[in-house]
Amino acid sequence: MNLFDVYPLFDIEPVKAKGAWLWDNEGKKYLDFYGGHAVISIGHSHPHYIKKLEEQLEKIAFYSNSVKIKQQEELAQKLGELSGYENYHLFLCNSGAEANENALKLASFQNGRKKIIAFEKSFHGRTSLAVAATNDKSIQAPVNAAHEIIFVPLNDTEAFKKAIDKNTCAVIVEGIQGVAGIQVPDDEFLKLIQQECTNTGALMVLDEVQSGYGRTGDFFAHQRSSRSLRGTKQSLQPDIITTAKGMGNGFPIAGVLINPSIPAKHGQLGTTFGGNYLACAAGIAVLDVIKQENLMENAAIIGKYITGKLGGVEGIKEIRGTGLMLGIELEFNSTQVRNDLVFKQSIFTGSASNKNTIRLLPPLTITKEEADFFLEGFGAVLKSHLKAIAQ
Ligand SMILES: Cc1ncc(COP(=O)(O)O)c(C=O)c1O
Repeated sequence: MNLFDVYPLFDIEPVKAKGAWLWDNEGKKYLDFYGGHAVISIGHSHPHYIKKLEEQLEKIAFYSNSVKIKQQEELAQKLGELSGYENYHLFLCNSGAEANENALKLASFQNGRKKIIAFEKSFHGRTSLAVAATNDKSIQAPVNAAHEIIFVPLNDTEAFKKAIDKNTCAVIVEGIQGVAGIQVPDDEFLKLIQQECTNTGALMVLDEVQSGYGRTGDFFAHQRSSRSLRGTKQSLQPDIITTAKGMGNGFPIAGVLINPSIPAKHGQLGTTFGGNYLACAAGIAVLDVIKQENLMENAAIIGKYITGKLGGVEGIKEIRGTGLMLGIELEFNSTQVRNDLVFKQSIFTGSASNKNTIRLLPPLTITKEEADFFLEGFGAVLKSHLKAIAQ
């Protein structure tokens, strides 16, 4: 049997990884400034992560959600503590798309409505409702078009006010748009979404799948807006927050954080694998390491360092984002630059739907020396491209 050929692949075969580094089958070493789509939060093969998973595997790896699983409670308690959402409830599942699917479904159960507002350039996953709320027709099959979804430009207050009404079930917004090439919602725009949701009875769903888990320097990206809005006596309290990617550092696990005002009902949501012992062990290990190693602070510091070094560099049009969720928009298509970074400088970075933008999503453990390795390699590649363009 052959693999279903849906992924354009680099001709590289990683066989080993440690911290922010990968080794291929020929022993060549690469700096991981992408974290495999923002997944590697605490670094590859972190010793505490290995220990927690090994210990759990020795005891019990799986039983269904028909028995008490203490590790789920420990994970919920630690996630509440580190994120500041202690009073929220947690539903565990397996992927970002599944988390968003459940979030929107829950919103619809709650208010009985169908209309969803999402934003232009959004990405929320590839399952039925999540892909319908994703602003990319090329990944929507005809069957996905059945949902009532309205796309509004991000940060366009007038268009948003026009779109929301008493039929709106939910508004789904990314903490920072990732796949779009790192587009940041304004603090005031998030506040407006919250206000209008309250006025109309719609639910506010914050998709923190890519932007969450300490990556931006706050636990969730929207908490940065929450902090700056606090002076205006209006911080953000989303009805639902979704998380995945960095949550398991590579082990599939996702979560739906649910405002306590939303009641739970037996049977409404469910999953076979969600919240299994191994996934919880991975999730607990990640939270332990983020806390013990002050990784949110590190993300903020190293992110600032990188942004500072790239400011004013020729060939760069704009740098967007915060912490270790950064988008470098070049003045030209970035595809060749990314390829040269991999094959000439041994550095992985990410692409975006905005073809001029390179996404940086390294592990939160990244050091200043590793940032310098990236900056040197990136500088060399950029210089040679600018030279080639000028000729
Ligand atoms: C913001 C956001 N939401 C949801 C998803 C979907 O996550 P998954 O691929 O785990 O289903 C992604 C994946 O890139 C994402 O960036």
